Amino acid sequence: MNIRLAKPEDLPSIQATNLQNLPENYLMKFWMYHILSWPQISFVAEDHKGRIVGYVLAKIDNGEYDEPKDSEKTEIHGHVNSISVLRSYRRLGLARKLMILSQEAMSTIYKASFVSLHVRKSNKPAIALYRDSLGFRVAKVEQKYYGDGEDALSMRLDLVI
Ligand SMILES: CC(C)(COP(=O)(O)OP(=O)(O)OC[C@H]1O[C@@H](n2cnc3c(N)ncnc32)[C@H](O)[C@@H]1OP(=O)(O)O)[C@@H](O)C(=O)NCCC(=O)NCCS
Repeated sequence: MNIRLAKPEDLPSIQATNLQNLPENYLMKFWMYHILSWPQISFVAEDHKGRIVGYVLAKIDNGEYDEPKDSEKTEIHGHVNSISVLRSYRRLGLARKLMILSQEAMSTIYKASFVSLHVRKSNKPAIALYRDSLGFRVAKVEQKYYGDGEDALSMRLDLVI
């Protein structure tokens, strides 16, 4: 298993993996925007034949477009938009490795002070990954965040710069 930076030519496979694994799906231009804007913080896992079996897609937010401004929002931080691993490749440590590589790059390259993400309240495997394995905490609960009305946990992890 190989983990490396995601490239624009990986996007069709990343999108296919996302469609298999999550109800939150995005247009190709969304994926492209992330890879081109922040090329050092999104990663893929590939099998021995070079097939994409997992990915993490992230962005950097400096809060400049957030209203109203507050000190937390204007801190430079990373945000994980999407992560998934194909079912037959789970519990091998791939998601943990993808997250750690992205977090390290957010911190060293962009001087991000924390990383944030949203997760469905019912998504026990993902919550276990973030909280128990990576050390994230729940910052707040966002009611009816998802299109189907489910609440999101807004989670964050402070990064050591
Ligand atoms: C969540 C997901 C990305 C985890 O991927 P993964 O590669 O299987 O995770 P890892 O093997 O790196 O797991 C690392 C740790 O996270 C926790 N964890 C991961 N999956 C878990 C599960 N099903 N049950 C309990 N704990 C789990 C464990 O602590 C695990 O360490 P361990 O295996 O030594 O016990 C994967 O289940 C997935 O793609 N789910 C569907 C998409 C999804 O929900 N994405 C997140 C959206 S917010």
